[in-house]
Amino acid sequence: MLHRSWFPDRLVGDRVILKRHVSGNLAAFMRWYADPEVSRLTRYQDGPMARPEIERFFQARVLGSDSLAMAIHERASDRLLGTCAFSQLDGENGSALFHITIGEKDAWGRGFGTEATRLMLEHAFERLRLHRIGLSVFAFNERAIRSYRRAGFVVEGRAREAIRRDGRWWDEVEMSILDSDWRALLAAVPVGLGAVSAVGAGGDGSGEAPLTDPATGRPVDAPTIQRIG
Ligand SMILES: CC(C)(COP(=O)(O)OP(=O)(O)OC[C@H]1O[C@@H](n2cnc3c(N)ncnc32)[C@H](O)[C@@H]1OP(=O)(O)O)[C@@H](O)C(=O)NCCC(=O)NCCS
Repeated sequence: MLHRSWFPDRLVGDRVILKRHVSGNLAAFMRWYADPEVSRLTRYQDGPMARPEIERFFQARVLGSDSLAMAIHERASDRLLGTCAFSQLDGENGSALFHITIGEKDAWGRGFGTEATRLMLEHAFERLRLHRIGLSVFAFNERAIRSYRRAGFVVEGRAREAIRRDGRWWDEVEMSILDSDWRALLAAVPVGLGAVSAVGAGGDGSGEAPLTDPATGRPVDAPTIQRIG
């Protein structure tokens, strides 16, 4: 279970705002994850999730504290576009896995996903002081791979023929970004990565002091959080 102090109330970018999910977002999840195209890109199983499965996922992984999940809203309209999350947050090793789904398909390919990913990475590296964020993506998901590369992820390996889709085998691509990659990226491109200000979680947006666990007063990068999952 993640400590509440890991959760920002919101992360503000140029075009998207990430906010804590609310229970009313379940209706959108029901629509997104019932969509064959979304499920093709996000699920190992062929075919969309059943409604009870979506509800369980939403309660445990989205509203619950198993993952650090944030709703992606378009900043201009406040429209809910999708969701992104860190799972398997491991304080001891400073690592987590990243997941993202923009469920509103008309919002694909418009830069929202890349900006949301950068906001999450900024939170991970600047506020949580994590060391490594990993992810895996199906090799046929070229849009996602391009977006992850732009956000700073690099390919570190492939699980060969890990998924069968559209009548053939595909690799699963493993990608990651280290805090050193993130800093190199910032140094190379000091502007234009998407301005961010964190609100909540004890953060004042200054980005100066690392988060501390209120129970112990220790920095959150101390090994107080056990591996989950
Ligand atoms: C993957 C996802 C988060 C990316 O977010 P997005 O807002 O659509 O992506 P962006 O517009 O920020 O960036 C997409 C990149 O892919 C390119 N692209 C867009 N459509 C593409 C397509 N059909 N094929 C290949 N590349 C494409 C864009 O040009 C852009 O690359 P560039 O910045 O180098 O020009 C989003 O598309 C999504 O949620 N898809 C469905 C679920 C999913 O695949 N989740 C990831 C599972 S690992």
